Amino acid sequence: MKAGFIGTGSMGSILIEAFIHSGAFNPEQIIAGNRTIHKVEMLAERYPGLQVARSNKEVVQESDLIFLCVKPSEFKKVIDEIKEDVLPSQFVVSITSPVLIKHLEGLLPAKISKVIPSITNYVLSGATLCIHGNRMQPEDKEWLENLFAHISSPISVSENYTRISSDLSSCGPAFLANFLQSFIDAAVEATGISNEEATLLASEMTLGTGKLLTTGGFNPISLQKRVSVPGGITEEGLRILEEELAGVFSRVIIATHAKYEEDLEKAEHRFTLKQ
Ligand SMILES: NC(=O)c1ccc[n+]([C@@H]2O[C@H](COP(=O)([O-])OP(=O)(O)OC[C@H]3O[C@@H](n4cnc5c(N)ncnc54)[C@H](OP(=O)(O)O)[C@@H]3O)[C@@H](O)[C@H]2O)c1
Repeated sequence: MKAGFIGTGSMGSILIEAFIHSGAFNPEQIIAGNRTIHKVEMLAERYPGLQVARSNKEVVQESDLIFLCVKPSEFKKVIDEIKEDVLPSQFVVSITSPVLIKHLEGLLPAKISKVIPSITNYVLSGATLCIHGNRMQPEDKEWLENLFAHISSPISVSENYTRISSDLSSCGPAFLANFLQSFIDAAVEATGISNEEATLLASEMTLGTGKLLTTGGFNPISLQKRVSVPGGITEEGLRILEEELAGVFSRVIIATHAKYEEDLEKAEHRFTLKQ
């Protein structure tokens, strides 16, 4: 099995590194291409054996499984470049939410899936959202999800829920980090605790909370109940959070969905333009 990557920016390189670190692929099983070739050359230096492709066509010709890791605006260009070389026996995985599977299936004869990763996959953690196209047979889905299980918890989602699922899983780390930074900044300002110490405490707390919510038998509601005894200090803090954060996440979701609709429209336009 040879895996090819088109685009080795932030997410393409995270996937390559996570697959290698997890043992899912040896560097020799990977071929990668990128518009700015220097990025792939750096990966090949770090992972001897990884093959640097000189074109996107070369990636396709050498691979059984092809990951498309470019931004939505670059998709159509890449598809036009590779479509003559893609075979029905190959697997193509797109990691981009606003490019719909129907568009990819319309242009490429391969078995198509959309798998939305998360930066958390870099530490072999977090979810990957799996949305499979019509040509993916049950055994193909199982095989692909088993591959992603090396670096994540693969979760099947409907394409209708791609955006909200990505908000939670892929944007979530940034949202949570933003919340934590506000907490840390306030702690430093109010008490003089060092930024370093507050950051360490907040990070350890986040790791432990993640474990409680995944393997520790808690959900977000039961965890709040468990930590806050009636009349206690946590309850005071939660009261303020509930007053101040009311409606914030509804606004966040409205904003992410509005941007998604914009991206969807642009992607749709690019894919339906006459050849
Ligand atoms: N970032 C996340 O946390 C995240 C999570 C889930 C999904 N995604 C999705 O992943 C996709 C990629 O995001 P990203 O954050 O990795 O973006 P990025 O860092 O900008 O990487 C995109 C890469 O694609 C390369 N590229 C552009 N056009 C190309 C072409 N014609 N042929 C070959 N390579 C080309 C770019 O090369 P250059 O070096 O020349 O710019 C760049 O390295 C996006 O659609 C995003 O929605 C991202």
